[in-house]
Amino acid sequence: MASKVSERFVWAVETLGIDPGDSVLEVGCGHGVAVSLVCERLGPRGRIIAIDRSEKMIAAAKHRNRLHVQSGRAVLEAVALEDADLGDQRFDKIFAFNVAPFWREPNEALAVVREHLAPGGAVYVFWDARRQNGRDLGKRLSQRLLKGGFTIERVLHKKLSPVPAVCVIGRV
Ligand SMILES: C[S@@+](CC[C@H](N)C(=O)[O-])C[C@H]1O[C@@H](n2cnc3c(N)ncnc32)[C@H](O)[C@@H]1O
Repeated sequence: MASKVSERFVWAVETLGIDPGDSVLEVGCGHGVAVSLVCERLGPRGRIIAIDRSEKMIAAAKHRNRLHVQSGRAVLEAVALEDADLGDQRFDKIFAFNVAPFWREPNEALAVVREHLAPGGAVYVFWDARRQNGRDLGKRLSQRLLKGGFTIERVLHKKLSPVPAVCVIGRV
């Protein structure tokens, strides 16, 4: 029986508002659940690159998304954001859900994001409010984006089970 997709991923991918032709980068994709949902929304010209520093996670994500990988719609790579060779690629949407560098070394992580955002593109930093109040979390994430050279477009709070989540959307 197919396992039910966690509602946080459904919310996250709805929040991205994927257009069929989008170029998307996910940082820290874990098992690749969001990658599958993004691929379902992409058209023939759209694509997603998803990276995770864990080989194990990328192996799991590749297995889950094998048809999308075969079709070339999804490219999955085991590499840390700070080591990724993204060349001159630019993405319309860059997102991460619960990925430590955006909290611990935000300037470094956001510098890579800035370099690879397409004109008019946006970064979406999602976090679950498991350990702290969602309002504080939204403020603290926003401060990180502001320090990293982004303007804050929106801060979203979503009641989800088992824990609420926050998304801060930033633009250069
Ligand atoms: C808490 S898990 C979240 C996974 C997935 N985004 C989710 O919400 O289920 C964090 C993931 O980010 C990856 N990660 C942590 N630091 C990273 C970095 N610097 N570059 C790429 N991936 C990283 C970890 O290997 C892990 O798979």
